[in-house]
This record gives sequence, structure tokens and C-alpha cells, in this order.
Amino acid sequence: MYLPSLVLSLVALVNCSDWCYNGCANTPSSWKNLPESSCGKKHQSPINIVTRSVVTDHLLPNFTFVNFSSENTIKSITNNGHTVQCTLVENEVEVSGGGLNGTYSVVQFHFHWGDKDYHQGSEHSIDGYRYQMEMHIVSVKKGLSVDEATTQADGFAVFGFFINATEDGVLSGPWYTLTANLTNITGSVFDFEQNNTFSIDDLIGNVDRTRFYRYYGSLTTPNCSEAVVWTIFQEPIQVPKELTHLFSTKVELINTYRPTEDLNGRQVTASPATPLPPAHSWCYNYHCDHDPSQWFLLPESHCDGKSQSPININTRSVMPDNSLNSFTFTNFDNKQAIKYIANTGHSVECVLKDDLVEVSGGGLKHIYSTVQFHFHWGTEVQNSPGSEHTVDSNRYPMEMHIVSKRKNLTLDEALKTSDGLAVLGFFIETQPTSSPSDQTAWKKLTQYFSAIRNIRSQVEVKEDISINDLLGKVNRNSYYRYSGSLTTPLCKEAVVWTIFQETIKVDGNLMTMFPKYTGFHNVYRPIQPLNARTVYTTRSASCISAPVLLYPLLVCFCAHFW
Ligand SMILES: *[C@@H]1O[C@H](CO)[C@@H](O)[C@H](O)[C@H]1NC(C)=O
Ligand SMILES: *[C@@H]1O[C@H](CO)[C@@H](O)[C@H](O)[C@H]1NC(C)=O
Ligand SMILES: *[C@@H]1O[C@H](CO)[C@@H](O)[C@H](O)[C@H]1NC(C)=O
Ligand SMILES: *[C@@H]1O[C@H](CO)[C@@H](O)[C@H](O)[C@H]1NC(C)=O
Ligand SMILES: *[C@@H]1O[C@H](CO)[C@@H](O)[C@H](O)[C@H]1NC(C)=O
Ligand SMILES: *[C@@H]1O[C@H](CO)[C@@H](O)[C@H](O)[C@H]1NC(C)=O
Ligand SMILES: *[C@@H]1O[C@H](CO)[C@@H](O)[C@H](O)[C@H]1NC(C)=O
Ligand SMILES: *[C@@H]1O[C@H](CO)[C@@H](O)[C@H](O)[C@H]1NC(C)=O
Ligand SMILES: *[C@@H]1O[C@H](CO)[C@@H](O)[C@H](O)[C@H]1NC(C)=O
Ligand SMILES: [Zn+2]
Ligand SMILES: [Zn+2]
Repeated sequence: MYLPSLVLSLVALVNCSDWCYNGCANTPSSWKNLPESSCGKKHQSPINIVTRSVVTDHLLPNFTFVNFSSENTIKSITNNGHTVQCTLVENEVEVSGGGLNGTYSVVQFHFHWGDKDYHQGSEHSIDGYRYQMEMHIVSVKKGLSVDEATTQADGFAVFGFFINATEDGVLSGPWYTLTANLTNITGSVFDFEQNNTFSIDDLIGNVDRTRFYRYYGSLTTPNCSEAVVWTIFQEPIQVPKELTHLFSTKVELINTYRPTEDLNGRQVTASPATPLPPAHSWCYNYHCDHDPSQWFLLPESHCDGKSQSPININTRSVMPDNSLNSFTFTNFDNKQAIKYIANTGHSVECVLKDDLVEVSGGGLKHIYSTVQFHFHWGTEVQNSPGSEHTVDSNRYPMEMHIVSKRKNLTLDEALKTSDGLAVLGFFIETQPTSSPSDQTAWKKLTQYFSAIRNIRSQVEVKEDISINDLLGKVNRNSYYRYSGSLTTPLCKEAVVWTIFQETIKVDGNLMTMFPKYTGFHNVYRPIQPLNARTVYTTRSASCISAPVLLYPLLVCFCAHFW
């Protein structure tokens, strides 16, 4: 992009001409040596957008464009010695929304192009592909002067449109009018206002403006201030290839683009409507290479094994087992046990500090070290089914999995051992308004979700949250037990499953934050066949809903019954 010069004087042009794209001393590789230059810094533009590394930001809303369809907003066309710039009438054209913080006032637009032999000349590239041209619509955050804007990370918002040169067709309409007034004379200002019969929308045409990439970068000309929130629209504007030719011949500047700069760790995001190639080889829905019915095709997959999870628990055929005694939970009350919360691309996962939290007892034959817990859910509709396990074919709204590994085994060893992992599964239901429970821990947890909207993002947990706080008063003595597998690829059959009968009660609005912030819906694997396995239960299991006073009596009754 070109720094908006609102009033252009010849003096300014002389000052600018100490850099160029080609044919002078200061070509892009030495821009970093210019006075006051930021061109050698780490958050520079343009970049190559690698679509496989782009992540969808589900909360990027649509833009609101004001006066883009108005004619007479283009004041002048200028050849400033570096590009052709169309300066707009001040304070008439605006953009907001699209994840921008505030309203931006559009000041100018300009172009980057190749040469008369139709070499590609866009600044940004997509998966290494450079389009023929790129148009930059430059706006300044309202309330800031241009100078002030260069000092803020989002002082400018620049909208990049690729221009794709089509083989057929002749220039007509607005693009014809625009190019008819191109001139080779550096510093010439062609006053356009009175004769302007097209709008910015007329130039953009039918490009889908809900599909765009977003990242933070810099001006692409000296002094390359890192002050730009970039929007690159995915669809190009289609214009006959004669256009590139006219720019490079009538203006006689060629290849007016800066080479792409390193990302240096920056994340490019995309609006929800932007199509992206699958970043992950498996998923729960039907928009990837491997939905659950295809998981068994993944390399080294066990997903077509005979002891898979989750299962439906048929309460009429569960077997009571006297060895299923009480658990010992170590450090479940530790409020600093959670190291960070991560968006794994499939779920929200809370990773625990090493060697701190443990589970034993409960009929387990070993001590297990707890490594993480995560969640399965449905949609944003309250009470929509989303648990993995079902009980008598009833699917609960959510399920929490606390995953532990045999203390004496490495993770690799544990995955190869039939009881290498112990997973505690808790169903989650909406808490009834009649008996509200303490939601503080769930509020603290879900507050972190806005920081992990993007796949592979994670946030350190500083708040005090213990696992006990999340589990609340749920009865941990009545549960089902069976041998199964991990419920995500590669579905290793290494899990001793414990499914608790009583549900955790969570506020419905907090529950909807799981699908809302991640954009993941129905993150549960379909029910797997039980095959030859037996599901066991604690002796008191089937009496769980009995009133407290009758409880001991019923325990005996159940025991005898079975
Ligand atoms: C954005 O606009 C598109 C098309 O106009 C529409 O389908 C979509 O629902 C809009 N998205 C939001 C978040 O408003
Ligand atoms: C849009 O343009 C009209 C005139 O062309 C002007 O009156 C109006 O103020 C502009 N809107 C904004 C938000 O600047
Ligand atoms: C939005 O901009 C305002 C003013 O420039 C600033 O105070 C605020 O912190 C910004 N908010 C975010 C989320 O960046
Ligand atoms: C660009 O134009 C060419 C030639 O008309 C066409 O084949 C191609 O599909 C266009 N590319 C895009 C992304 O629109
Ligand atoms: C500018 O473009 C218009 C419309 O095509 C044309 O009539 C006019 O002669 C052009 N002016 C100059 C100075 O080239
Ligand atoms: C454009 O300007 C350059 C240098 O200013 C000059 O060499 C060239 O002949 C001009 N071309 C046209 C078509 O006027
Ligand atoms: C611009 O329009 C005015 C009247 O609106 C006309 O007199 C003038 O010739 C036009 N200029 C060009 C370059 O078309
Ligand atoms: C160059 O950039 C620095 C910050 O990166 C800024 O403070 C300075 O004003 C800029 N100079 C010009 C001439 O824009
Ligand atoms: C773990 O290994 C140690 C020796 O390395 C052994 O003494 C201990 O009994 C083992 N514990 C379990 C639960 O297997
Ligand atoms: Zn530009
Ligand atoms: Zn799970």
C-alpha cells in the first residue's frame, strides 16, 4: 500500500523519490536502510498466504461499507511516481465491522501491477500464486491523523483486492474510464470530481466481500510503519488483461510491488465464509477428508476394532461388581492444577501440570496420573444432544472426559496397554433454575474461550479453578465401568472407562459458549457396538435417583436383586 498523501505537492514527490521498485539505488532490499525506516522489522507486509495454515475466526463479522456505491467520491487521479492513486473526497466513504476496532475513513485507493508482458504484479500472494494486479483501498482510523495512525498497530485498515486478468473481453465501464485518464507524467493530478461517473463498488464488482483473510502488518512502501490491519479478499476482481498492459505502458512504471515478507509467527485468520483446505485429516462432520465413518482408513488407525468407544449403556444389562469401590482423587482440589486451555481443532482441552493430579481406587488396578480434561458437545441450541456415551439411548447435552495415564508408563507404552489409560466421563446437563448451583468455576473457565477462538491457540490459566470446583457435588460413587478405546483417531483400545451416573449441572448459557467460541458443532463420535463386552456397575448404581433417606435400604435391595 501507499501512505495516504492527502495533499500532494511536488516537494513531497521529490522527498518520496529516494526509493523505487526497480531502477534506482533504493530498491526493496535496501528500504530498511532508509531514514526512520521500519522496513526491516518483523511484522511486515505483503505476505504469502498459505491457506493450509490459515485458521477460521468464527467471530469475524461482515463489513459495513458506507458510500462505496456513491458516485462522485473520487476526487482525483494522481501519478505520484510510485503508483496511480485515486484520492477520495474526505470523510464520505467509511468502513466498519469485519472485526475492525472502530470505524475507518477511506482516504484513497491505488494499484500494484506487473509489466507490459503481463507478468504478475500483486503484492500478496496465495499459496505462492501472484495475481496480475492488486488494488489497495486505504483507510485511517477515525479520530486519528495520518501521522498518529502510523504509531498504532491498527491505525490503518487496508483492503486488498486481487485483480485477475481474464483472456477475453475488452475494457469497458468504470475500468475503462479510470484507465482513460492514466498519465505518464509524474506528479500530474487529474481532477476527477466533476466527471466521475462510477463508484468504488463499480470497480469491485460482484466480489464476495464476506470471504476474506485477516492479519496485522505494515505499509508496503517506505517507511513501512507496522500500523495496518490487513483484509485480503479471497475472490479476485475479474478485468480483461488489457488493463495490466495499460498501467505498465501509459504510466511506464513496471512491477510496482514489494516482494513478500516473512510471517515471523503471525497467524492469518479468515472469515467464516472463506473456504479453506482441510487443516486436519479427521473431523466429526462432513467437511473434511475423514469423517467418523472414514476414521478407520487413517494410517495406523484402530477405529474399526472390536472394543471401541463410546457405547450405549443399557441399564437393564449392566452387571454389578463388588470390586468397584470408591476412588481416591489426589489434587482434584488444587486450584492451580490447570496449566493452559487449548483449542485442539476438535475440542477445548484443559492441560494439567505434570505429575500433580492423580486418580486411583474405584476398581482401578494402578495409580493413574491425570494429564488433561476436555469436552464433547452438540450445537448452540440449549440442551441439544452432545454427549458421546448414551444411557438407554438417551444422549446428554455434554460430556466431560478426564484423561489419566498409568503412572509408571510413558504415553506411548500406555497407548499399547489395554488399561494404559483411565478416562472418567461425566455427563453435563443444564442446571434447573429451581436449584441453582455454584457456577463460579465454570464462569472462570469459559471466560478464557474468547482467547482460544482459533485452532491450535492456547491460553495460560491464571484464575483459581480446581477440578473439584467444576465437578461440584456430583456423586462419584455410582458409576459404570467397561473397557474401550479413545473416542478420537487413532481410537487405541487402551482405556478403562468410568462413566458416572449423576450429571454435573451447568448454566445453559455457559454451555453454549463451547460451540459458540470454537465454531465446532456436534463433537461426538457415533455409538460403537458393544460386541462381547460387559458393562459393570457399582452396587448402588441403579438406586441413584432414590431419596437420601431410603438410600441404604435400596442399596441392599438392588444388591439382592442382581
Ligand atoms: C454475512 O453476509 C452474508 C451474505 O450477505 C450472510 O449470508 C451472512 O449471514 C452474514 N453473516 C453475518 C454474521 O451477518
Ligand atoms: C455519504 O455520502 C453522502 C453524500 O454523498 C453524505 O451526505 C454522507 O454524509 C456520507 N455518509 C457518511 C457516513 O459520510
Ligand atoms: C479499540 O480501540 C480503542 C481506541 O482506539 C482502544 O481504547 C481499545 O483498547 C481498542 N480495543 C481493542 C479490543 O483493541
Ligand atoms: C482468472 O482468470 C482466468 C482466465 O480467465 C480464469 O481461468 C481463472 O479461473 C480466473 N481465476 C480466478 C481465481 O477467478
Ligand atoms: C478521462 O476519461 C474520460 C472518459 O473516458 C475522457 O473522456 C477524457 O478525455 C479523459 N481525460 C483525459 C485527460 O485523459
Ligand atoms: C513516460 O515517461 C518516461 C520518463 O519520464 C519517458 O521516458 C517515456 O517516453 C514516457 N512515455 C510516454 C508514453 O510518454
Ligand atoms: C468534466 O465535466 C465538465 C462539466 O461537468 C466538463 O466541462 C469538462 O470538459 C469535463 N472534463 C473532462 C476531462 O471530461
Ligand atoms: C516512520 O516510522 C516511524 C515509526 O515506525 C514513525 O515514528 C515516523 O514518524 C515515520 N516517519 C515518517 C516520515 O512517516
Ligand atoms: C511403579 O514403579 C515402581 C518402580 O519403578 C514400583 O516400585 C511401583 O510399585 C510401581 N507402581 C505401580 C502402581 O505400578
Ligand atoms: Zn499498496
Ligand atoms: Zn473425549
